[in-house]
Amino acid sequence: MASKMKLGVLTGGGDCPGLNAVIRSVVKTAINDYDMEVVGFMDGYEGLIENRYKKLRSHDVSGILTLGGTILGSSNRADPFNFPIMQGNEYIYLDRSSEALQNFERLGLDVLITIGGDGTMAASQGMAEKGLKIIGVPKTIDNDLFGTDQTFGFDSALASATDAIDKIHTTAQSHHRVMVIEVMGRYAGWLALASGIAGGGDIILIPEIPYQIDVVCDKIKDRNVSGKNFSIIVIGEGATAEGGEMVVKRMVKNSPDQVRLGGVSNQLSAQIEGITTLETRVTILGHLLRGGTPTAFDRILASRFGTASVHLAAKEDYGHMVALHGSEIGKVKIKDIAGKTRIITRDSSLLKTAVSLDTCLGIENPIEEKKEELAAQD
Ligand code: F6P
Repeated sequence: MASKMKLGVLTGGGDCPGLNAVIRSVVKTAINDYDMEVVGFMDGYEGLIENRYKKLRSHDVSGILTLGGTILGSSNRADPFNFPIMQGNEYIYLDRSSEALQNFERLGLDVLITIGGDGTMAASQGMAEKGLKIIGVPKTIDNDLFGTDQTFGFDSALASATDAIDKIHTTAQSHHRVMVIEVMGRYAGWLALASGIAGGGDIILIPEIPYQIDVVCDKIKDRNVSGKNFSIIVIGEGATAEGGEMVVKRMVKNSPDQVRLGGVSNQLSAQIEGITTLETRVTILGHLLRGGTPTAFDRILASRFGTASVHLAAKEDYGHMVALHGSEIGKVKIKDIAGKTRIITRDSSLLKTAVSLDTCLGIENPIEEKKEELAAQD
């Protein structure tokens, strides 16, 4: 009789709601549909490198569907090719990918399911080139992974951001204030644009469109003149003023992408108060967006991704990331998407929707301007 197939699974990068739903789905599908064995590595690639793992059986994943975070732990510092080790007061970086591969082989695993974002997929591609059989599952609240229409985690973060904007709206109205709400999302504006539309933001500022402060202030003044004496601004943490630079909150030395953004809203509010003299307040939602129970949409998407990844493993169809294409679950080659970021383009229908709703995007005619630019290039 053929021996049972053995799967490894890990969660890498920043956590988000839905990670546990994927783990549960992987374990249940592997056991119920294929009688496979599953091993979970702790803290992302760190666990594979340091040989820290635990067996996952049905009862280990019972009751975790609605839990935020990840029962396996995660790390956004554990790149197997650039693994940070503290030496004295300094970090040195070692290539520990061969140790990771050896641990995988020693455990007799057939395939590794890596649940993560861009950093995890880039590391997974590197490990695949070394011979590891990998299947990826796209995760991130930023929704910026190439090759999938949506990542799990995004919808839950969007729901939290929208809820926060709704709550801040009432104070904006009562006190006639300008309220600036900053959301995460790194270099992509998906979370800002989507929550801004859902929360009825008057001004939405995203990294893809550097804003002009005069355009922003004119919109606020116009609203006041028309009797709407408050304004809601939703800004992505990676947004910049035209000609300005991203606001970096801290550098995390031992992380592959060391930059941590945050605080652009403080800069913006000071500018607005200076120009309009209107009271302007800031709320930075930060890590609040990564927590909490996943939405129904994310629970379903995470469950579908988990199931699909195990079906690919059973078919020995390796080197792919499962993906959402329209309403169907498909797959893309990890090598085709690793290292790429999916940002908002000027022909995005979401952007056009915001424009049709008379939302200020920080510049005059954001879509027309691009048309002219494109025409000039012809
Ligand atoms: O990628 C997810 C994310 O939450 C980004 O939106 C944010 O810029 C970053 O991670 C924050 O990372 P950390 O938790 O290391 O501060």
